[in-house]
Amino acid sequence: MNAKQAAGYRAAEWVKDGMIVGLGTGSTAFYAIEKIGERVSQGLKIKAIATSNASEELAVKYNIPLITAGDVNRLDLAIDGADEVDPGMALIKGGGGALLREKLVAINSDRFIVIADSGKMVSHLGKFKLPIELVPYCYEWTLGQLKNRYDVAFEMRMRDGELYVTDNGNYIVDGAFGQILSPGQLGDELKAMTGVVEHGLFVDIAHTVVVGYEDGRTEVIE
Ligand code: A5P
Repeated sequence: MNAKQAAGYRAAEWVKDGMIVGLGTGSTAFYAIEKIGERVSQGLKIKAIATSNASEELAVKYNIPLITAGDVNRLDLAIDGADEVDPGMALIKGGGGALLREKLVAINSDRFIVIADSGKMVSHLGKFKLPIELVPYCYEWTLGQLKNRYDVAFEMRMRDGELYVTDNGNYIVDGAFGQILSPGQLGDELKAMTGVVEHGLFVDIAHTVVVGYEDGRTEVIE
């Protein structure tokens, strides 16, 4: 059992019969989905919504019944990883590029459980480059606006020599903010910029953090 697995498996225990569950994205969320799938094969009755095409494929593989947003108003629970978690449970997410769907699912869930290996716990957010999702149309202007506004390095995310495209058909720019002292304020500023679709700061959204350690222990922070 590694740290990510420990956190993912522990969080899967929150899932109960009848729940509508949001499935996160990434290598830690993988373990939660795997464990939920195992429980479904043993008779657990739930329905789920996935935060990425990759997680949807996993859910299908594990026979976890999927619904779409039109079927329900809210979710009972969402479980997802994070790239950084601060002591106030503010997060940086989007290392895997799924931040927009992840945030939509998280804010529409009665409980949002973050699963993280202990290396993700930080005193201040920002060492991990902040993912910001941009509309492709005239993205160069949005990037220019960001560069004018913030004195930090911005790098368009690439994959195989091309601009990385999210599941929503958008681009991502990663910003090396260093130390983010007011994540809520920075998030509001970014959100107000035309051309920015979403950013990876999740402030006042998480209810619970499950931290996993390499020896298989877990710690629950609420
Ligand atoms: C996906 O876009 C991200 O928000 C992930 O949840 C985050 O990057 C954590 O991923 P890992 O669990 O793979 O570290």
